[in-house]
Amino acid sequence: MPRAAPLPMHPNRLFARVMEWLNAPAYRLACKLVDPQPENHVLEIGFGSGRLLEMIAQKVDGIHLAGVDPTETMVRMASARPALRKLGNRLDLRSGTAQSLPWRDKTFDMALAVHCFQFWEDPDVCIQEIIRVLKPGGRLVLLLRSHEKRAPNWLPNPISRSGNEYQQTIALLRKTAFGLVEEAGRAGSTRSITAWLTALPANTTSE
Ligand SMILES: C[S@@+](CC[C@H](N)C(=O)[O-])C[C@H]1O[C@@H](n2cnc3c(N)ncnc32)[C@H](O)[C@@H]1O
Repeated sequence: MPRAAPLPMHPNRLFARVMEWLNAPAYRLACKLVDPQPENHVLEIGFGSGRLLEMIAQKVDGIHLAGVDPTETMVRMASARPALRKLGNRLDLRSGTAQSLPWRDKTFDMALAVHCFQFWEDPDVCIQEIIRVLKPGGRLVLLLRSHEKRAPNWLPNPISRSGNEYQQTIALLRKTAFGLVEEAGRAGSTRSITAWLTALPANTTSE
């Protein structure tokens, strides 16, 4: 069987525009699941061109948006969006990866990642990082490109390569401090998971 063409781990501008078009239904689902409230602190991991962050910014006033992406072109593209620039010091976009999030413990009400999980080489470490930066009661919204039927063998994330990505990801999240992990709907071939942090990680204390 021919090997599927690799999705770029570091997209360029043109590919980012194609992603925006392809991922529009996924962004709408993510926006609904995030349900941002004024004054929330929201983190997007692997924000790409920043279209979803822009949609969230346009949905609610007073929101604080942060993001991390290892591709400098994506950081520049997202940072140039007028709706995001308008946030001023309520916007914090950084270069980096899910493996080592450059924020302090308990910073965010919510974390989200859309079509990015597949690039996490060590998903356990990344999930622990997300738990670390979420506030108690915080929430993760994870949208996965469904790889169940034809899992490409070049994907960095071993769970995404496994052929049973969705159920394995849910099982992984259920072994962590996320006390409630739910299947949260589909948008085309995109599947979503929401996970609530109901317990504090063992190595942290309540403030
Ligand atoms: C397929 S694109 C999706 C972008 C965006 N979420 C969207 O849906 O349009 C994957 C994004 O993840 C970023 N990325 C790749 N490896 C990453 C990692 N280890 N941690 C965080 N982001 C990563 C890429 O730079 C890219 O912007």
